[in-house]
Formats: sequence, structure tokens, C-alpha cells
Amino acid sequence: MYYSDEIIEEVRSRNDIVDVISAYVKLQKKGSSYFGLCPFHNEKSPSFSVSRQKQMYYCFGCGAGGNVFTFLMEYENYSFVEALRYLADRAGVDLPEQEYSEAERRRADEKAVLLEIHKRAAQFYYVQLKSSQGEQAMAYLRGRQLGDDTIKAFGLGYSSKFSNTLYQFLKSKGYADDMLAKSGLITMDEKHGPHDKFWNRVMFPIMDANNRVIGFGGRVMGDAKPKYLNSPETLIFDKSRNLYGLNRARTTRKSYFLLCEGYMDVISLHQAGFTNAVASLGTALTAGHASLIRRYVQEVYLTYDSDDAGTRAALRALPILKDAGITAKIIRMEPYKDPDEFIKNLGAEAFEERIEKARNGFMFSLEILEKDYDLKSPEGKTGFLNEAARRLGRFEEEIERNNYIEAVAEKYHTGYEELRRLVGKMAVREGLAKPVQRPKTAGAKEKEDGIRKSQKILLTWLVSDERIFGQIKDYISPEDFSDGIYRKAAGLLFQQYHDGEINPARIMNYFTDEEEHREVAALFHTRIEELTSEREKEKALMETVLRIKNHSIETATRNLEPTDMAGLQRLMEAKKELQDLKKLHISIN
Ligand code: GTP
Ligand code: MN
Repeated sequence: MYYSDEIIEEVRSRNDIVDVISAYVKLQKKGSSYFGLCPFHNEKSPSFSVSRQKQMYYCFGCGAGGNVFTFLMEYENYSFVEALRYLADRAGVDLPEQEYSEAERRRADEKAVLLEIHKRAAQFYYVQLKSSQGEQAMAYLRGRQLGDDTIKAFGLGYSSKFSNTLYQFLKSKGYADDMLAKSGLITMDEKHGPHDKFWNRVMFPIMDANNRVIGFGGRVMGDAKPKYLNSPETLIFDKSRNLYGLNRARTTRKSYFLLCEGYMDVISLHQAGFTNAVASLGTALTAGHASLIRRYVQEVYLTYDSDDAGTRAALRALPILKDAGITAKIIRMEPYKDPDEFIKNLGAEAFEERIEKARNGFMFSLEILEKDYDLKSPEGKTGFLNEAARRLGRFEEEIERNNYIEAVAEKYHTGYEELRRLVGKMAVREGLAKPVQRPKTAGAKEKEDGIRKSQKILLTWLVSDERIFGQIKDYISPEDFSDGIYRKAAGLLFQQYHDGEINPARIMNYFTDEEEHREVAALFHTRIEELTSEREKEKALMETVLRIKNHSIETATRNLEPTDMAGLQRLMEAKKELQDLKKLHISIN
């Protein structure tokens, strides 16, 4: 951590969460909270709540929640430090510079300079496009039916025929050669001197989710090779963690993204009104892309090219999306090559129809599989169904698996029960081929997840109902929580109770690593099933306390040194207390 707890808390407390969020979401006061439409999922009636008193927000619909830093990290895609700087600036708090480590400051400074260079380069290319130099490029874009508004919205540009105009321009703005080289836009050549990476190409600036230019794609205007040239990865450009068009698609009110392959596809789709289109940056879809998408939507429609390569790419993308918890559908572009050509020929309405007719990703993958078998011959059909059954066995949820078994049975004219048995058989066979401990570790993991869930529920309860602490404090201590963030968060919360000041928003300050911060935000926002009566609540609380205590004793027992007599003594006592606790009645009033 580079900033002190005090300064972080000062920044947090001087930015009222209701005021900050109001700039993004229209909020209405209802009782002690404010409500609005959740910016993190698609909804028609407001379930996004902000509490001025707690300085936290929470969405009852999608479960998003946290403090003012979390909100900006989620909404603006800021890192913790970026959110801190933004809010410090907003409230007029001076952040002490010296708290940076030297290396960290240099890195941050370099990033800022690279962003500046990219911004200037994008402006430069845009001006070139509009100048007499750019006539041919302009004609090319017109030929591809792009309007002025689209060209402007995507900041398209042109890199001139000369070998170092961008270099000259950036030099005149005072940037040092080493930074220019690090930007990837200039190549330092010992023999021929510095020259631009992009010559005589139509330029597509690549922006991150916050509209900052982080790289470029450049397309030749004819048939020369390579067709596209892309910026290399730099300090600010990570291809596997950015998507073309995301800066615009993220504000869509649609509940899904259209995922395509090319820059031009994204631009055409946006121009035709499909502003939820994104593309990976000339690379195959990665898990990084999928988790980025998952921040905004839970569903993706793949609109890949209709050729073999596009189909293969779509098939490869399906499991990656599934692993990230995203449902995928496939839109076919036949008889055209890609969405851009499709829209040009058939228009937006026809595309809308294709969206409606989108195919389920799994069924699509089976249709592709069909091609490897002769379904008319008995052996062919058996082989096909065996493979289909093997794939069906990979659906972990029983209901989902059965739904798919039903769909496949119907489509391929086979009995549901027979297919279900086959799926079971294949699963056993697959299971035997795999290392045997698989079910065992899965079981242990489930239990671990269960205990974490209990701990989250208790933490959520502790911050939402202050009476609870009095009831549990004699039985549960921070040491009963799992290692790491659970224990740390519990420790801070218990301390606040002892100090008589409950402030979960403040606890979150202590977690500045992005992943940790999000996890802690979730700790205080577990969805507790609507427990209607106080009695139900008391019973559930009792169970939760027992589960946590029990697990804590089990863990301690497992880790006990055989020679640690005092430890053994303590454990025996703890076990006895646990027995007494079972007889006890927890009362919330
Ligand atoms: P247009 O021909 O302009 O319509 O291109 P497109 O957007 O349809 O692209 P295409 O389907 O040919 O390729 C998809 C994406 O792959 C492009 O947007 C680029 O990001 C990338 N790509 C295509 N060709 C090349 C190439 O020659 N080199 C590199 N590095 N990337 C390429
Ligand atoms: Mn194309």
C-alpha cells in the first residue's frame, strides 16, 4: 500500500457516496436510503440502493455492492489508486507524493506519459484524415459506407505516406525518444533513424473502457499485406484484457454483448444501432476477455465470420465464456462473410432477425460435430451420440444437463431415457480415465465454500443489524474466520464494535488490491434469504454461529502439533463450549 490508512479514510469520508453516485445514477430517496436503476445490470425497476448513513451501495438485483471506491472501480474500471486519486481531486485533498515507492512512481508516470502520447497521436491521425493528405483514406472510409458521425465517434484517422511525420510531431511536443519507443508507435532504427510504425494506413484507435486511447490498429487501403497492423503490447496495452468498442458498449442498456472478430464489424454494427458490439483485438478470445465481459453482461451473442476459421474460433470461445459464467449464443452470417458485409447487404432489420434466431451455443457445436459422422448409418449415429453424450456430461448442473439431454434427444430422434443413461455411462468412463481424487477434492472444496458462505452471512448480519454482535461476541472471535481477507475483515469489524463505531465502508479501505477489494465488498453483501420472522432469523443465526465455530475447532485440531499440550487443553474446552452453545438460545431482542 502506498497511501496511509488515514489519508485513504480522509478521502473516503470527504466524498459522500450519495453525491458521487448521483453523478452517474438518478437516485430517489425512499426511507433512509436512496434508490435508482442499477448501472451494473439491466433492469426496469430500481433495486440499486445507496445508504448515506452507511456510505455503502448495494443492488438487490445483481448483488453488486461496496463503498465509494468500489463504485468507481466498477463503474469507471479504475484501479483502487485511480479511484483514490479521482476522489482526492474531487474533494480537494492533496495526496502526498512521497508515499509512492520510487519504482511505482516511475511506472505510474510512464503510464501517464504513454497515455498522453496516444491521445496526441490519435488527434494527429484524425487531423491528417481530415486534411488534403487524407483524401484517399477518406474516400476509402466513405466507400465502406461510414458516415462522418461514425468516423468521429470512433476517432478514425490516417497515417501519412511519409516515414516519420508522427515522430516529428511528437518530438515537437517535447517527448523523449525512449518514451516514444516505449509507446510502440515509433521504431528506433540505429541505421535509418526513428520512424513511424504506421504508414499510409487508415487508423483505428483502440480505447480502454474509460475512453483512453491505448493502442492502434492500422488497415491498408488496398490488398497489400499485412491487411492490419496492430500496436505491440506496451505498459498500457494488454490485448487480452481489452476489447474493441467496449468503451461504448458498456453503456448499452442491453443485457448482452455482440461479440465479433473485426474492427470494421464493430463499427458497422454500432453505426446500424447495435451499440452493444465488441471485438477482441486481433487475437483469440481469452479468459481475461471473458471476465472483462462478465463485469457488464451475462450473455454474449457470437457473430463470428461464417468461414471455417470463424466457426472454429466460435467453438473455441464457447467453453471460455461458459467458464466465466456467460451464456453464449451463435448468430450466423450466411450467405455473407461477416456482420459488416451482412449489414451492408441486408440492413439492420435483417440483422435484428438473426439476433432473434440466434442458436444455442451447445446445439450449434453439435451441428458442427455432425459433419464428422454419417448420421444415416447406424455406426455413424452411435459414434455421434457417444460423443454428444460425453459433452452433455460436462454440464455440472443437473437441471441444465437434463434440459440439454431432452433437446438433443428430440433433435436427433433418440429416446430421452436412453440418452440419459448413455450420458451417465460416458461420465463414468470419463471419470475413470481421470485421476481418482477428483470427487474427493470437489467435496472438500464444496465444504470450504459452504463455510465461507456462513462467514459471509455472519459478516453481512453484523453490519446490517447491530444487535447481533452482542449475541455472538462471547462465542465467535476473528480467529474463527478463515485465513486471509475473512479474518482480516472480521478483525477490523470486531474492533469497530469494541470502539463503538460501526463503519464497514472504512473497513474496505484496508483492501486496496482490486481483486481483494471486490471480494471484501461481497463479504458485507451476502444475500440473506428473506427470513420473515425473528424466530427464523434467530434459528439461522444460531446455525451459522455453530457452523463457523465447529469448522474453526476442526481446523485447529487438524493443525495441532502432537506435543502441544496447552493447545490440546484449549481445544477440549472449546469443544465443550460448543456443546453448551448448542443448548443455548440466541435472542435478537
Ligand atoms: P475488413 O477486411 O477491413 O472488413 O476487416 P475485418 O474487420 O473484417 O477483419 P478480418 O475479419 O479480416 O480480421 C479480423 C481481425 O483480425 C481484424 O479486425 C484485425 O484485428 C485482425 N487482423 C486481420 N488481418 C490481420 C493481419 O494481417 N495482421 C494482424 N496482426 N491482424 C489482423
Ligand atoms: Mn470485414
